[in-house]
Amino acid sequence: MEQKSLRLSLIVAGTMSYGIGGKNLSAKEVSSLIKATFNLGITSFDMADIYGGYTTEALFGKGWKDAGIAREKVQFVTKCGIKAPQSERPEYKVKHYDTSYDHIVWSAENSLKQLGTDYLDLLLIHRPDPLMNPYEMAEAFHALKKSGKVLHFGVSNFTPSQFEMLHQLYPLATNQVEASLMHRQPFLDGTFDQCQQCKVRPMAWGPLAKGDFVSQPLDIRQALEKTLAALREKHNATTEQLMTAWLLRHPAGIHPVMGTTRPERLKEAVEATKIKLSREDWFNMWEAAAGEEVP
Ligand SMILES: NC(=O)c1ccc[n+]([C@@H]2O[C@H](COP(=O)([O-])OP(=O)(O)OC[C@H]3O[C@@H](n4cnc5c(N)ncnc54)[C@H](OP(=O)(O)O)[C@@H]3O)[C@@H](O)[C@H]2O)c1
Repeated sequence: MEQKSLRLSLIVAGTMSYGIGGKNLSAKEVSSLIKATFNLGITSFDMADIYGGYTTEALFGKGWKDAGIAREKVQFVTKCGIKAPQSERPEYKVKHYDTSYDHIVWSAENSLKQLGTDYLDLLLIHRPDPLMNPYEMAEAFHALKKSGKVLHFGVSNFTPSQFEMLHQLYPLATNQVEASLMHRQPFLDGTFDQCQQCKVRPMAWGPLAKGDFVSQPLDIRQALEKTLAALREKHNATTEQLMTAWLLRHPAGIHPVMGTTRPERLKEAVEATKIKLSREDWFNMWEAAAGEEVP
């Protein structure tokens, strides 16, 4: 039977800041946030077992239960593979990665339990593991797929060669990487070329490059501010909307994963999908951020 392809909302909601170590939202607040996010047309939620010290999936699950939204109308994305010493996991003594068959299967099943659902739309391997065995990983994917527990699989922070190694054994649905105007590496290192070649839509974490503006040298900050001021006026948009539109302009079909927990900022992100940057606008932003024109 042909695999039904993955469909995420263009803007994806990140949940990393929902719980411990972030905004410490209550289950009731999470429930309201899920509803507000869904009402904006954002149907995909990006999670990870490790968020909130392995507690955020359960928090999301509690909020989800009371949100009153049909499960098939949303997409649950979660990740596995990082083992970090945390009070919830005292058995982990050293921070490390585990992409073994047993851990992938156990982690996916545990995520289902925490989230209170019987399937995941997308499971990502959170970080490339230097000890990963792609044959074993693909076997775990096949088993989870066969049992109906996970519909699609992908990776995160993988180099193009790491992606290729696994993609040859199991068709991956995405590579979620850090990408923004201030973090342009995936545009240059083959990551987004490969996504286009494989017809796989990448996901961009850190799309607003929180804090990266202020850490730039003064001349770049000034050039960026000048360019962005002109574009804000031209497109009647905020800086954050321009940065989101800049990612959306790329032909790979990037899904920005927004980290905000504020509905009004999520609304801004959704409105940014209407902004059409010209090629010159796009390169203007690239040049200002890079501190030099393209060769
Ligand atoms: N795969 C990975 O390895 C990985 C790594 C990191 C993150 N992620 C995923 O990516 C998501 C996003 O990452 P991120 O938090 O670094 O991304 P981000 O969307 O670039 O940054 C969000 C941060 O920017 C702040 N912000 C300030 N002004 C804003 C505005 N106008 N609109 C929106 N946000 C504004 C937000 O604060 P407020 O909350 O106060 O609005 C929040 O602290 C995470 O939630 C997680 O799901 C994945």
